[in-house]
Amino acid sequence: MVGEAIAGRRDEVFLVSKVLPMNASLRGTIAACERSLKRLRTDRIDLYLLHWRGSHDFSETIAAFDTLMRDGKIGQWGVSNLDLQDMEELVGTPGGEGVQTNQLLYNLTRRGIEYDLQPWCRGRGIPIMAYSPIEQGRMLRHPELRRVAERHGATPAQVGLAWLLRQDGVVAIPKASDPAHVRDNRAAADLRLDEQDLADLDRAFPPPRGPRPLEML
Ligand SMILES: NC(=O)c1ccc[n+]([C@@H]2O[C@H](COP(=O)([O-])OP(=O)(O)OC[C@H]3O[C@@H](n4cnc5c(N)ncnc54)[C@H](OP(=O)(O)O)[C@@H]3O)[C@@H](O)[C@H]2O)c1
Repeated sequence: MVGEAIAGRRDEVFLVSKVLPMNASLRGTIAACERSLKRLRTDRIDLYLLHWRGSHDFSETIAAFDTLMRDGKIGQWGVSNLDLQDMEELVGTPGGEGVQTNQLLYNLTRRGIEYDLQPWCRGRGIPIMAYSPIEQGRMLRHPELRRVAERHGATPAQVGLAWLLRQDGVVAIPKASDPAHVRDNRAAADLRLDEQDLADLDRAFPPPRGPRPLEML
């Protein structure tokens, strides 16, 4: 479906895909990427991520990513669902400092990463891609979120996204199949939350007071 959607407009698109951990050996990663390229009917993926940590050594996956970059099949590489300890091990592996992002579950109702993982990534200039940024729609009925949205004449989804996007080094990847939702989400980039909004949201969705295991969906 994505291959069909991007046909004839590949240069307008930033294309991200992931390799499953079970495929993340040296040869397995390269073969998986080539299969994806075929299905996507394109010659390159802009950003290729390790979906989560599996049993293959980081060194093998990194070697595969480097080969794919050298061959022009991917532009950059990153990871997803890696907690602090795994990130430390990754950047301690030769070539591991090439990691360009960590794609993580992050939204108002899932703030655990703010305690340690996010500051660690920020300190190293590694952006976070917030996945399920509106909690798959589940958080949109929250009364405080609705109150803040009403003050701005905005929607709850826009407030949730603006709350993420106001932060340095945070990218949000909402999924929307309804064109009205796509427009709604685009407009979130123009919404500015003020101190009062942020304080109200902190009360309703408190930040972590200690380390928490990484959450995944
Ligand atoms: N790395 C990982 O392990 C991982 C795990 C999960 C997800 N992801 C990625 O994260 C991305 C998004 O996550 P997600 O789909 O789980 O959750 P999400 O983006 O938080 O929520 C998607 C849901 O919200 C609805 N929605 C979108 N915009 C809306 C709006 N403005 N108002 C009301 N409802 C709205 C969508 O409906 P419609 O479709 O009807 O518009 C859809 O039902 C996906 O691209 C996915 O690949 C990554």
